[in-house]
Amino acid sequence: MALKVLSVASEAVPLVKTGGLADVAGALPAALSEHGVAVTTLVPGYPKVLAALGRTKEVHAWDKLLGEPARLLAGKLGDHPLLVLDAPGFFAREGGPYSDPSGKDWPDNWRRFASFARAAADIAGGAVKGRKFDLVHAHDWQAAMVPAYLRFAPFKGGRDVPSVITIHNMAFQGYYEAAIFPKLGLPKAAWSVDGVESYGGVGFLKAGMQSADAITTVSPTYAGEIRSAEFGMGLEGVVLARSNRVHGILNGIDPAEWSPASDPHLAATYSASKLAARKRNKRALEQEFGLDRDDGPLFVVVSRLTWQKGMDVLLEVLDHLVGIGGRLALLGSGDAEIEQGFHAAAARHSGRIGVRIGYDEALSHRMQGGGDAILVPSRFEPCGLTQLYGLAYGCVPVVSRTGGLADTVIDANPAALTAGVATGIQMNAVSYQALAMAVSRTVDLFGKPAEWKRLQKNGMKADFSWDASGAAYAALYRQLIEERG
Ligand code: ADP
Ligand code: GLC
Repeated sequence: MALKVLSVASEAVPLVKTGGLADVAGALPAALSEHGVAVTTLVPGYPKVLAALGRTKEVHAWDKLLGEPARLLAGKLGDHPLLVLDAPGFFAREGGPYSDPSGKDWPDNWRRFASFARAAADIAGGAVKGRKFDLVHAHDWQAAMVPAYLRFAPFKGGRDVPSVITIHNMAFQGYYEAAIFPKLGLPKAAWSVDGVESYGGVGFLKAGMQSADAITTVSPTYAGEIRSAEFGMGLEGVVLARSNRVHGILNGIDPAEWSPASDPHLAATYSASKLAARKRNKRALEQEFGLDRDDGPLFVVVSRLTWQKGMDVLLEVLDHLVGIGGRLALLGSGDAEIEQGFHAAAARHSGRIGVRIGYDEALSHRMQGGGDAILVPSRFEPCGLTQLYGLAYGCVPVVSRTGGLADTVIDANPAALTAGVATGIQMNAVSYQALAMAVSRTVDLFGKPAEWKRLQKNGMKADFSWDASGAAYAALYRQLIEERG
């Protein structure tokens, strides 16, 4: 019999997405079904989600979930079961999943996502008739209170199920003042260093890490990095204390969404053996971004414009990039100052730098399909997906050697070039010097068409499917269920 797993995430493709978490939550059900695991996904009922649902059925209701009435709707996420928490007091708002239309975090985020986790713990415990689960898999701080509720305040008379917390990004921890503790509906025993207390406040991610049966993160290198203060961001002590429970499992990519041979967003589809067709996409992209038409290297960026992503350093390197014959097409949004910086660079280098501020899924595909190289100079990167899409699309990744970037790109150093296995360019810790050098190396390699083509083909042939990671999650689930007996 298939294992039944409840996957709890605050976003999931195609319903709602602000970043890689949505890609992963959306891909997990298919990835795991191959390995005898039936995943049901639980997401919050934001207006966009409810609008996209189509036919639904109410399967449960709460009079009060952290103070607000809520109901549970059942629908479909592709071919897989979906549950949606419809709690209008928390989720029926214009704006993003976590912030108001001006970009400011909702002040009651703690209550919104505690209610989401409370609901998930009830569901996992068996509150919903006819739905039984063997394990709960919670993602990031927004779902991190699920293991804490299961441990300290489980559904009365319910099943005792194990839980997994996946850290997609340690930089977001859901940290709140101590005053919210009494409102969470947890017993006093939960207020301890081994529970939800964190540096004198309430830490959602920390609570999840202390309470879950296993902690996973999205690459082996990041799983090692978060043991240090630099990457652990205050929670390295918890990682170390529970290190025999910490696993690094690399994200895969969903071939139904990301395959150049069948991508409906591209002007021309192509494959590793038909790379010439890619040129049409490059021409289309140049036109779309108002760039000069030429055969020199076209760099692309698809990213949140933040410090994590090294975008401030990229701004400093742009004059060098253009000076050595490069062009850049950038799609992203984030910090106002960085956005301004890119606008200014585009004005300074008309025809060489094109900038689109905003979020555009279709354009992000066209950029992978038409760009020559994708820049990902992150200061830290738990996994990173855009370099994986770049590899699959023959858009050579230029990345920093950290987290999942270190685990997925093979640097074109002399040994790798001689062995014929290189897939991209890596740089050491992000700095002006390192990025400028990486950009120069890229331009040099691009000038050697045979070597460049080899890089593209190696990347396109590499396996970034979910096969191995789906099996790793399934094995972990089975082990945890067995442990409970
Ligand atoms: P993170 O989740 O830290 O932002 P990832 O690389 O894991 O980084 O995932 C980012 C995801 O969001 C990718 O699917 C990427 O294509 C997408 N993305 C980022 N910025 C944009 C944007 N401005 N428009 C469209 N897609 C974007
Ligand atoms: C986070 C990380 C990113 C990772 C994604 C999906 O947003 O920043 O590196 O790829 O989650 O796991």
